[in-house]
Amino acid sequence: MPQTDTVTSTPTLEALFNHVTIRNFTKEDISPSVITTLLNAARRSPTSSNMQAYSLVVVRDQEKKAKLAELAGDQRHVAECPVFIAVCADVYRLKKAAEMHGKTLAQNTENTMIATIDAALVGMSLSTAAESIGLGAVMIGSMRNDPELAGKLLGLPKGVYVVYGLCLGWPDEDLRPAQKPRLPEELVIHYEHYSTEDPTPLLKQHDADLAIHYNKLGRNLHQSAWTGVMADKFSTPKRPWLRAVLEKMGFSFE
Ligand SMILES: Cc1cc2nc3c(=O)[nH]c(=O)nc-3n(C[C@H](O)[C@H](O)[C@H](O)COP(=O)(O)O)c2cc1C
Repeated sequence: MPQTDTVTSTPTLEALFNHVTIRNFTKEDISPSVITTLLNAARRSPTSSNMQAYSLVVVRDQEKKAKLAELAGDQRHVAECPVFIAVCADVYRLKKAAEMHGKTLAQNTENTMIATIDAALVGMSLSTAAESIGLGAVMIGSMRNDPELAGKLLGLPKGVYVVYGLCLGWPDEDLRPAQKPRLPEELVIHYEHYSTEDPTPLLKQHDADLAIHYNKLGRNLHQSAWTGVMADKFSTPKRPWLRAVLEKMGFSFE
């Protein structure tokens, strides 16, 4: 493809620019061949050292989705979406590969991170691929509310955990949400070196922008719509037991 100074829109750029999380789906199913195409596209994602340290578990069974929805804190879209995909970090295969050659997989924080990053990347590709054909998606980090139960429901072996789930379905266009404003570009993009200029004014600006967005939706969340919510949410540790549970499930943080 020739290099140009200007960018014309492409389906990929369009999918990225138009992204919004969809939590309301029509009752229409997604055909197995569409899912297979999306999965195969996502499988082309880059992967650390070609390890491909992830697995994707496709769930259509209504009873199983209902159980996963409950595990996720009763998130109804998990039960309502036609296809739920558990995006898993997977070192199980690597262990097998090592054993095939009389070796033991040396596990540490690095390969736990590699598997988690590989899973996150393949899931992101899957989500973008889905959005590029008009499907809606919501990622479900609440799968980590109970990683052992998620593992049990999905039959995961030791060395596999659900990093997040992905609900896929055709968007209910009547309930398509407006895009949320993002943090100002200057706060998240740095050129050549990280700018440590006091972020407070831009954070306040974002609070105001987000408050307008929520007010339009009739949701009066918090005067400090971003900083206040983050401060409330993350001033106590989230899932403080997670490391111990993942260690039990075959991951190392050494
Ligand atoms: C790893 C990850 C986990 C998420 N988990 C949930 C979830 O459990 N439930 C949910 O409704 N949304 C979840 N989301 C969606 C975010 O809330 C959403 O992306 C964010 O609020 C920004 O909104 P937008 O995607 O519409 O721009 C998750 C997103 C990511 C990336």
